[in-house]
Amino acid sequence: MKVLFVGDIFSKLGRKAFEENVKRIKNEQKINFIIANGENISHGKGMNEGHYKWLLEQGANVITLGNHSFQQKSILNFIDDVNNVVRPLNMVTDHGKGYVTVNYNGVKITVLQVIGKVLMDENNLSPFIETKKVLDELDSNIIICDMHAEATSEKVAYGYAFDGKVTAVLGTHTHVQTSDARILDGGTAYITDVGMTGPLDGVIGVEKSIIIDRYLNDGRQRFTPADTGKYQFCAVIIDIDDKTYKAKNIETIRIID
Ligand SMILES: [Fe+2]
Ligand SMILES: [Fe+2]
Repeated sequence: MKVLFVGDIFSKLGRKAFEENVKRIKNEQKINFIIANGENISHGKGMNEGHYKWLLEQGANVITLGNHSFQQKSILNFIDDVNNVVRPLNMVTDHGKGYVTVNYNGVKITVLQVIGKVLMDENNLSPFIETKKVLDELDSNIIICDMHAEATSEKVAYGYAFDGKVTAVLGTHTHVQTSDARILDGGTAYITDVGMTGPLDGVIGVEKSIIIDRYLNDGRQRFTPADTGKYQFCAVIIDIDDKTYKAKNIETIRIID
């Protein structure tokens, strides 16, 4: 069984990159299940109802979010009713789910997301303790965790904390792919950050001139997605043993076009 996980899809170029690559990769690599991080899909902030439906049409099975989960108001029209959208488990909110379990041809696949505390919203509960509580209850064959966090140390620690207890820990949020993908000693596939699917030449998705102006001149221009130029498509493929459900391999993908 092969799972494709696509990193943070950012605005127009992210959608273009997704559309131009996912179906081809699915066919070439015989992908069974597609997870996409959609927290930046709508103008860089959140996921509206139209883009949610679009992602499903494009083949996504489950969509994860992040710190921007609720920035598009229309997400409240559907997030409580669907079983294929995951917001961080340890985020304090009355809406959405921190994990979902999907039946794929008799295989129970859980997709769970947590958000970091380090350099992020201090109100978030502990990603470690909240995950532990959920894992004590779950009896899924495959568990994929999206660890949405800023600090590499927090993500590395999370990977080790749940090594052998989950199938994969895949970092998101920094939008920069790391080169540390591997299978940990306990059998969990791990990467600190899958990277972003979006503009190549922005500053983690945003028009670069706006960010440089902010650093150089204390500029206050509104953040606007870098919607022109080349894109980067960042993802990982996890190859999972069909009998033991252990991760056999994790492979990174980074396409620039
Ligand atoms: Fe993001
Ligand atoms: Fe994020």
